[in-house]
This record gives sequence, structure tokens and C-alpha cells, in this order.
Amino acid sequence: MEVYEGKAKRIIPLDDGKVVMEFKDDATAFDGGKKARFRGKGWLNAQISAYLFKVLERNEIKTHFIGVAGDNRLIVEKLRMYPVEVVVRNVVAGSLKKRLPLEEGTELREPIVELYYKDDTLHDPMINRYHARVLGISEEEIREMERIALRVNEILREYFKEKGIILVDFKLEFGKNERGEIVLGDEISPDTCRFWDAETGRSLDKDVFRFDKGDLVKAYEELYERLTGSSLS
Ligand code: ADP
Ligand code: TMP
Ligand code: ASP
Repeated sequence: MEVYEGKAKRIIPLDDGKVVMEFKDDATAFDGGKKARFRGKGWLNAQISAYLFKVLERNEIKTHFIGVAGDNRLIVEKLRMYPVEVVVRNVVAGSLKKRLPLEEGTELREPIVELYYKDDTLHDPMINRYHARVLGISEEEIREMERIALRVNEILREYFKEKGIILVDFKLEFGKNERGEIVLGDEISPDTCRFWDAETGRSLDKDVFRFDKGDLVKAYEELYERLTGSSLS
């Protein structure tokens, strides 16, 4: 396996079933249509992901996380990734507004799980179980990813609530390890989740960049500090 250079991360294979996941300072939105670089974003996303993976591991969710390896780098178990993004939503925001006649900020009566096919040239289209089967992903595998995603939602939603932060929605990616287990991979960070301050509704995530809502690094730093309880200054 060669080094993989993605939009936000670099995947560097090691020779023992592990890979280094290096978080870049690059940000993209709208299929790479909008691009920028934010000094410090890579570090923040690596640290926030590591922190959240540890929270999930404590709650018996199997993740690829092994350890932190320097500033912007995590060591993770190498997975065979499913080309699917699993999105969970608690509150109406983003692309859900184009699908349901509900206003931004409306709390959903129950979480919604959506599947997207990870392919930039097709603009990551939404798919269902039938499409997944044609792509060679069984209904059992999809059910297992959805089950884990909903459990992750329960854990993180409660965790952020205690910090005065609403977990609006998020995206997960899964892969299979060498033992054939379905494991949570990729990252969980303000690049891949929506976080709103519970009091003001202020975004503490990539929407700051997508919709020019202010200083991205400041928002990510605030999220880091509130999440971990440690000060960056
Ligand atoms: P993209 O590929 O969409 O540009 P990134 O820049 O985030 O996204 O690249 C990270 C890539 O690494 C993604 O394609 C993701 O599926 C993949 N990946 C995440 N976790 C693992 C893992 N444990 N093993 C191998 N690949 C992984
Ligand atoms: P959406 O409302 O734009 O569909 O996004 C839903 C959630 O998924 C949101 O928390 C952001 C995250 N997401 C990604 O991580 N990667 C993506 O490519 C997209 C479109 C969304
Ligand atoms: N991740 C996608 C991109 O990099 C879109 C997004 O997150 O808004 O273009």
C-alpha cells in the first residue's frame, strides 16, 4: 500500500497492519470547490479525534484508534474501508433542509441515519441498502454500521450535552479489519460533525468555513477546550 493523499489527511502505511493518519491543515468544502489552509487545524482535528475515539472505546465501541504519534498524527489499525459515509442527524441542518419540509434547528423526534456513496466525481450521492448491495456491501454489514452509528450518537450526544454543546449531526466511516470485524475508522472532528453552542446556536465546526461564519481555528480551539477541559493558552 502506498501513501494516500486525501483532501484533509494523509494515510501512511506501516508494515505491521497499522497506518499513520496524518491530519493536514487543508480545508475543503462543497466537493473541494472551496479550499483554504488553517494553521493548527490538523493538530486540533487529530487531538479531538483521539479524545473522542477514547470516549467511544470506554463505551465499548470498536474503533481503529491505537495512539497519538506526534502533533498531527494518529496511529490506527489498517482497515479495508467501505466506500460509504454514514451520517446521523439529531437536528435539522445542512442538506437535510433540501429533503424535509422542516426548518433549520428543528429537533428531530428520532435520529435519522443516511448512507452516501463516497465518490467525489459523483458528488457523494445518497444511496440506500439496494445500492449498497450492488456495490458488494451486504444488508447485514449496513445494518451493523447503522447500529454502531446510532450507539455512537447516543454516547456522544450525551457527552456533548454535558459540555453545553448540541451534537447536530455527524459523518462516520467504517472498515473491516484483518479479523473480519467491522470497525469505526477515519476521524470524528469538527470537520465531520456539526456542533452548536447550546445557548447561542453558534457553530463550532466546519460550517464556520463553509458559510464564512468567522474564525475557524478559534471555533475549533473552543471546541477542544470545552471538550477536554484543558486550556490552550
Ligand atoms: P478523502 O479521501 O475523502 O479526501 P481524507 O483526506 O480524510 O478524505 O483521507 C483519509 C482517507 O483514509 C479516507 O479515504 C478514509 O476512508 C481512509 N481511512 C480512514 N481510516 C482508515 C484506516 N483505518 N485504514 C485505511 N484507510 C483509512
Ligand atoms: P450535510 O448536511 O452537508 O449532508 O452533512 C451532514 C454531516 O456530515 C455534517 O456533520 C458534515 C458531515 N459531512 C462530512 O463529514 N463530509 C462530507 O463530505 C459532507 C457532505 C458532510
Ligand atoms: N468534505 C467535502 C469536501 O471536502 C464536503 C464538505 O465537508 O462540505 O469537499
